[in-house]
Amino acid sequence: MGKSSLLACFSLFLVLPPCLAADPDLLQDICVADLSSNVKLNGFACKPAASITEADFFFRGLAVPGDTTNTTTGYLVTAANVEKIPGLNTLGVSFSRVDFAPGGLNPPHTHPRATEIVFVLDGTLDVGFLTTANKMVAKTITKGDVFVFPRGLVHFQKNSGAVPAASISAFNSQLPGTQSIATTLFAASPPVPDHVLTEAFQIGTKEVEKIKSRLAPKKAAEEAVN
Ligand code: GLV
Ligand code: MN
Repeated sequence: MGKSSLLACFSLFLVLPPCLAADPDLLQDICVADLSSNVKLNGFACKPAASITEADFFFRGLAVPGDTTNTTTGYLVTAANVEKIPGLNTLGVSFSRVDFAPGGLNPPHTHPRATEIVFVLDGTLDVGFLTTANKMVAKTITKGDVFVFPRGLVHFQKNSGAVPAASISAFNSQLPGTQSIATTLFAASPPVPDHVLTEAFQIGTKEVEKIKSRLAPKKAAEEAVN
């Protein structure tokens, strides 16, 4: 490639939309997800236009607090993503509501497909994320505050107060995906071999087995929401 073509490529790169944007751009007004289709695309297949209704764009599930009483670490995520709102397909956005019991923890996790911006509805949360340089960026936030968790970075939220707390998060993906660090490593199916975990965490097999038995599939199911 000649010098001038290289320069042209570089200039093109500068004017193109950033490659790191989240979900791909839409190619039509709407593409309401056909959640029952077996056709696999980068997203969901579109329903026939004739069967689209306002219900495809509506969800009441964030209006009421989630019940945190029987959860392992005192928090419950209610997702409002494309799986709940089929009209979100191809639009690149979604919400979730998180309710926290006093002391409740949304354990360290990442969203591989989205940046998250959280708004505190009620209460006080200790929140933070970790950069790839292992720097922790953390803050205590309270009702009305906003905090950002950049795409792909491990983050957490803990209700440090003595009363319940709640937050709403927006994501730049119709389906951000969630990988919770502890359950990803200790409750995978098939399981991550003990020798991988003993070496990674510098602990013994007994400790690994103990953690695995505590993070049984129940917890993995609780976290598989986004
Ligand atoms: C909160 O971090 C969430 O992922 O909903
Ligand atoms: Mn999150």
